[in-house]
Amino acid sequence: LLGLHTKRMGHHVHYEESVESTQKIAHRLAQEDAVEGTVVVAEEQTSGRGRLDRVWYSPKYTGVWMSIILRPTVPPQQAPQLTLLAAVAIVQAIEEITDLSPDIKWPNDILINGKKLVGILTEMQADVERVHSVIVGIGINVNQQASDFAPNIQKIATSLSIESGQQINRAELMQTIFLKLEKLYDDYLTHGFKVVKLLWESYAVTIGKQIVARTLRETIEGTAKGITDDGTLLLEDLHGKVHYIHSADISLKSK
Ligand code: BTN
Repeated sequence: LLGLHTKRMGHHVHYEESVESTQKIAHRLAQEDAVEGTVVVAEEQTSGRGRLDRVWYSPKYTGVWMSIILRPTVPPQQAPQLTLLAAVAIVQAIEEITDLSPDIKWPNDILINGKKLVGILTEMQADVERVHSVIVGIGINVNQQASDFAPNIQKIATSLSIESGQQINRAELMQTIFLKLEKLYDDYLTHGFKVVKLLWESYAVTIGKQIVARTLRETIEGTAKGITDDGTLLLEDLHGKVHYIHSADISLKSK
């Protein structure tokens, strides 16, 4: 990539025209000892994966579909912090190259006007003590037009191009993400999660709002109070009881 000013993010890029999923390739490369900052990027994914076993629609030439290999020296239970870190870096990059100000919805959706713009899927290879690698999968809807989305998807998804009215240079977007990510990540490794947490909370639409959280077991309604230091959502229900939410689908209650 031209004009890359990072120390390691994006220095090794595996570029593919069409793959099943960049996550799959990144997992393989991580096992083969690929260096930190290695990126797998594809023009199209034929079985892009989302959270909770969902499909991630990844049509040719219109989006950024990539997986980044990180090797943080943190215990496995702290690895989810990297999802929040990636979300912050992506919002910063979007703010730098467009006039848009996206919001983050816990844990890792990036939205504009309530519609999904970016999804992040973080997966790790670890044993009890040690993280071997964290694969941060990032899907960004970039240059799709509204008619490129199926009618039912048009209601819930959007792209940078739809929202800004401009064509966006995908290479420039990726480079800006690498820069922001590297800076935050270095800061995180030396100073811990604090700065990332503050930034994340400043972009989060969820915090302080009435929300509904659907977990695998139950549906809880209440006020999102904040996140803990490991990125768990604190939800105070209507009776004042605080729940620690590790994994759920969140929707904002309309007033
Ligand atoms: C979600 O919101 O459910 C997460 C979506 C993550 C999609 C990205 S695209 C690049 C990488 N490869 C995949 O198969 N998924 C992630």
